[in-house]
Amino acid sequence: MNRTSVKDILKKYNDGQKIVSLSLYDAWMAALADQTETDILLVGDSLGMVVMGHDSTVPVSMEDMLRHTASVVRGSSKALVVGDLPFASYGSFDDALRNSARILQETGAGAVKLEGGVDVAPIIKKLVQSGVPVMGHIGILPQSFKLEGYKIKGRDQAGIDRLLEDAKALEDAGVFSIVLEGVAEETAAMITKEINVPTIGIGAGVGCSGQIQVAHDILGLIEGFKPKHAKQFTDLASTIKTAFSSYVNEVKDGSFPGQDNTFK
Ligand code: KIV
Repeated sequence: MNRTSVKDILKKYNDGQKIVSLSLYDAWMAALADQTETDILLVGDSLGMVVMGHDSTVPVSMEDMLRHTASVVRGSSKALVVGDLPFASYGSFDDALRNSARILQETGAGAVKLEGGVDVAPIIKKLVQSGVPVMGHIGILPQSFKLEGYKIKGRDQAGIDRLLEDAKALEDAGVFSIVLEGVAEETAAMITKEINVPTIGIGAGVGCSGQIQVAHDILGLIEGFKPKHAKQFTDLASTIKTAFSSYVNEVKDGSFPGQDNTFK
């Protein structure tokens, strides 16, 4: 089966269908998501916090992104895989092109994502002209949290105007979709109406063209962490803890390994 392409995503958008995306980082999770109708698997630099235990996305390197994006490509065959450009990897067009080319050529991903609006639009325009499919990302920008924090965007007129200007700049630059992260729902819905590329919301309400969630958040994998924008569809942390406890108990009382797990 052919992988979902950027063109397929745009066709879905033009047909009025919702675009469903998940952020995940490894082959086996990708294989499970790929058996559903998930359109886009984003290998986000949230990797740094969700998998690597950092307190922000800033420490994530190109090598980290390449390793995990390649894993997700290996584990999936249907969804479009998008690799995030990590912190400080796209400050100039030359850096952006070199690092995007590495993601596309060394991992097999179909597109890259990078954060920013008006400020990065000229770089994105040249990337797109060079043949790189780009997903934009505005609203809360985790790579800039040291400057901006994690405050919801688009709640006052200045913020609304800024976001719309950013979205239009990204549209003009040729992105095939725009992540809206942590944006007031009325603002996200208004932007979605004003532009002609799909908006993919996370904490941006139901008025976006599609949604993205971090797989670990909706699976309840990170104990005690339940962001408002995420719904826990299951509680895997409890399931895993119960399984680990059973293993520990059975090793201690000698009931594991049993005959089924033993070689003669
Ligand atoms: O890094 C990430 O996973 C993301 C998504 C949450 C949009 O940027």
